[in-house]
Amino acid sequence: MEVYKIRGGNRLKGNIKVSGAKNSAVALIPAAILANSPVSIDGLPEISDVFTLKLLMEEIGGQVTFENGKMTIDPTTMEAMPLPNGNVKKMRASYYLMGAMLGRFKRAVVGLPGGCFLGPRPIDQHIKGFEALGAKVTNEHGAIYLRADELIGAKIYLDVASVGATINIMLAAVRAKGRTVIENAAKEPEIIDVATLLSNMGANIKGAGTSVIRIEGVEELHGAQHTVIPDRIEAATYMIMAALAGDGIRVDNVIPLHLEAVTAKLREMGVKVEEDEESIFIPKTENLHAVDAKTLVYPGLATDIQQPLCVLMTQAEGSSKVTDTVYSARFKHIDELRRMNAVARVEGNTAILTGPAQLHGSTVTASDLRAGAALVLAGLIAEGETEVRDIYHVERGYSDIIEKLTALGADIRKEVITPASN
Ligand code: EPU
Repeated sequence: MEVYKIRGGNRLKGNIKVSGAKNSAVALIPAAILANSPVSIDGLPEISDVFTLKLLMEEIGGQVTFENGKMTIDPTTMEAMPLPNGNVKKMRASYYLMGAMLGRFKRAVVGLPGGCFLGPRPIDQHIKGFEALGAKVTNEHGAIYLRADELIGAKIYLDVASVGATINIMLAAVRAKGRTVIENAAKEPEIIDVATLLSNMGANIKGAGTSVIRIEGVEELHGAQHTVIPDRIEAATYMIMAALAGDGIRVDNVIPLHLEAVTAKLREMGVKVEEDEESIFIPKTENLHAVDAKTLVYPGLATDIQQPLCVLMTQAEGSSKVTDTVYSARFKHIDELRRMNAVARVEGNTAILTGPAQLHGSTVTASDLRAGAALVLAGLIAEGETEVRDIYHVERGYSDIIEKLTALGADIRKEVITPASN
C-alpha cells in the first residue's frame, strides 16, 4: 500500500504552480468523441482520472497521444463500444461518456460511475435531460443503457443546478436537431471551459456561465485545439496551505476571479491575500480568527474547499462552523482530524471546529480526494510524523503534489508499506 509520510513543522516558502483543472479535463476529453477530426487539449493535469480517461478513449477505438500535458485524441475510428465495467467504475466523471457517446452515436452503455463517496450522488438530472432530448434510458445490472433514433432539442429545467448534468446535457445537445435550452444550469467556470472547446469545434452555445444555456444543434463538429483553465480547487488548497504553514507563498497560474469566495473567506479569517493578474501571493499569516462558512454552488464557496478549510479552522482562535449545503455527508475527514488532536464535531451538515489546536502526527486515511488533501495539509503543521493512507484518492486530483510541496520546503515522501506494518 502506498502512503504519504509527512514530518510536520517545516515553514514553506516560494512559488507553486497550479495545474490544469481536473473537473474541466474530465469533460473536455470525452467532448472529443463528438468531433470528426483530432482534438488537442493542452495543459492537462497528470492525474489518475486523466490517465483513466485516456484508456477509455482507447477502449472505444480512439487514437490517443499524451505528452507533456498535451493530449491529442483522434476520434474518427471510435465505435459505440459498451463500457459496462472496468475503467468506467474508477471515476465518477465517466458519466460524461454518456452524453458524448449519445451525441455522436445515439447510443451508449456506460457502467454506473464510481469516484468519491460524499453521500448520495444521484444522476437523475442527467437522465432527465437525455430523456427530454429523446433518448430511452434504462438501468440494466448496474449499467446505464441509452438509445435514441434521433436527438431533438428540448427545454430542460434542472431541479438542482448540477455541474455534471449541465455539461452532460450540453454534450448530448450540441449535435441534436434544433434548439435546447437548459434552465437553472450550473455556472461553474468548468462549464464555460467545456462550452469554449465545443464552440471551437463548431457548436453553437450561448449563455454558458449563466443559469440559462441555449444550444442550436449542428450536424457535425470538427477537431480543435484547447488549453484547459487552471484548477481553482487545487489553487484554493494551496492558498489554505500558505495560510497554515507559509512564510510567503506565491500560487501561480490562477484566475483570481474564480477564487473570489475563498479569497473573501480567507481575508475574513485574517489571511492577507494579494492578487495579481495570474497569481496570488500569501505572506506569513500571524493570527487566524474563527469564522462561519457555507458551501454553495458557484460563485459561492465550493464544497471542494470545505475539507481543506476545516484544517485552517483548527488553527483559528475560537469556534468556527462550516455548513456543506451541496454534499451533506462530506465530513469523513473530521474523525481523522480528531485523531490528530483537532477539536471538532459534526452536527447534521455542519462541522464545528475550535482552535487553535496543536495537531499531532498520526496514521490517518483519506476517504476521498479533498479529504486526502485536507489530511496532507494537517500533516504539514502537525507535531511529528503523519502517515496518510489511501492516497490514490489524492492522486486522482493533485498533479505532482510531492514534487510541488517538496520544492516549497515540505518534508513529504511517498512510501510503500507492507500489510505487516499495518
Ligand atoms: N445532484 C442531484 N441529481 C443529479 C446531479 C446532482 O441531485 O442528477 C445533486 C448532488 O447530489 C449534489 C448537487 O446536486 O448535492 C451538486 O452535484 P453536481 O452534479 O454539481 O456534482 P458533480 O457534477 O457530480 C462536480 C465535481 C465535484 C464537485 C461538485 C460540486 C466533477 C467531475 N466533479 O460533481 O468535484 O464537488 O461538482 O461542485 O466535476 C472534487 O473535485 O473533489 C469533486 C467531488
